[in-house]
Formats: sequence, structure tokens, C-alpha cells
Amino acid sequence: MKWQNQLAVSENWTGEISNLEEKVKVANRVSQFVKQGDVIGVGSGSTSFLAVKKIAERVKQENLEIITIPTSQEALLNCSALGLKTTSLSAAKPDWAFDGADEVDSNKRLIKGRGGAMFAEKLVMASAPKTYILVDESKFVTRLGEKFAVPIEVDPRAVNLVETYLNNLQVQEVDLRMAQSKDGPVITEAGNLILDARFGEISDEMEMKLSAIPGVVETGLFIDYSVEILTI
Ligand code: A5P
Repeated sequence: MKWQNQLAVSENWTGEISNLEEKVKVANRVSQFVKQGDVIGVGSGSTSFLAVKKIAERVKQENLEIITIPTSQEALLNCSALGLKTTSLSAAKPDWAFDGADEVDSNKRLIKGRGGAMFAEKLVMASAPKTYILVDESKFVTRLGEKFAVPIEVDPRAVNLVETYLNNLQVQEVDLRMAQSKDGPVITEAGNLILDARFGEISDEMEMKLSAIPGVVETGLFIDYSVEILTI
């Protein structure tokens, strides 16, 4: 049976989408990779949202049977509103996945997590044999961390402890991410807080070093994953 309610019946993106034209083109490209029977990991963010819309169009037009594994409530609501079947990593392994990124360097190292969904994004990316990273030109950087801070998801009890460890890792600046439509900090979908940390240099070992800090649940550094950067 289908829900007849009004709140979540149509796809939805909050606010304006930057670089819309480029993002639509790259979304279009990834939608061409969908094949009958695929289990697809679906990233979060505006580029992934546009890809979900294109994929849903193909699924409808060609009567394709696919299942998606969304990486956030945002992606889950949009997949569902567009009629795409959803499941979880507990029930299925993705054949492939797609996602956006905030920064990409020449070694395919990524910063993700502007939308706060990096924990589930990393679980899905690590589960998929290959993930297409959908980016417009603005995402390419010569030095990782040039524009974006590294988001670090932290158990609320560990904020002070993690800050202490970050100081030992020569963090340049660290902020507790504050919410916009709620008083106080952002609370992630796993009930944690987010610290946004800026570093001078980000070494290949940084992801491991941050993950080893007690209380760190996940970070938005994605180094050495099986990704293909897809652009227009
Ligand atoms: C979500 O938490 C992020 O990792 C996004 O994938 C990333 O911020 C890219 O977002 P846009 O596609 O909206 O630029």
C-alpha cells in the first residue's frame, strides 16, 4: 500500500544548488551506468540528489528493477519519494555506489561531510567495489583542506578529549558545528557532534590518526578508497 500523506511525497532539496548546470550533467552521466538488478549505494548532498532524480527517471521509463542503499535520511526520503526501492547494508551489499565530495585532490583523496553524513557515506563506500565521485570543477583542489575543514564526528562525551588530541596533531583551528534550524550544535543521524578541523598539511596517515582518537566515530577524510572521479 502507498502512503497518502503530504509531507514526504515529493523529492526535496533545501535551498539553492550551487553550480547546478554542471551538477545536472554529471548526474546525467552516472544515471547511464544503472543496469537491471543493480544494488546501488546512494550518496548524500545536492549532486547525489540530482543523480537520484535522473536514475528514477530511467527506472520509470525502462521499467528497471534496482535497489538503493541510501547514506542519510535525506537520501532515504528522496529515493522513497521518487519510487526507488531502498534497503540497508544489513540486508545487501552494493554492486557500486555514487556520492559527491567537498574537495578532491590529484591523488583522489577526498574531504566529505558538509552535510554531516560522512559516517554512513564511508560505510557504504567501503562496502562497494567501486564508487563514482560526482564533482563539478569547483571541487578540485591542489592542497586537500584548502577550502574545507575536515569534519570529525565525535561522541558528545568526548568533545574535550578529542580537542586535546587534535591539538597534539597540530590542528590550526577547530569549531563545533552549530545547527541552523535548531538551537545548539548539529546532532548527527547517529546522535553525535561534529568538529570541523583545519590542518596545514593532510598526510596520507591523517585519516588513521584521527580515527584512532578515543571518541572519534568517523571523519570526512576519505583516503585510498576505490573511487572513480566523474565530472562533465
Ligand atoms: C554530505 O555529507 C557530503 O559528503 C556531500 O556528499 C558533499 O558535501 C557534496 O555535496 P554537494 O553535492 O551538495 O556539493
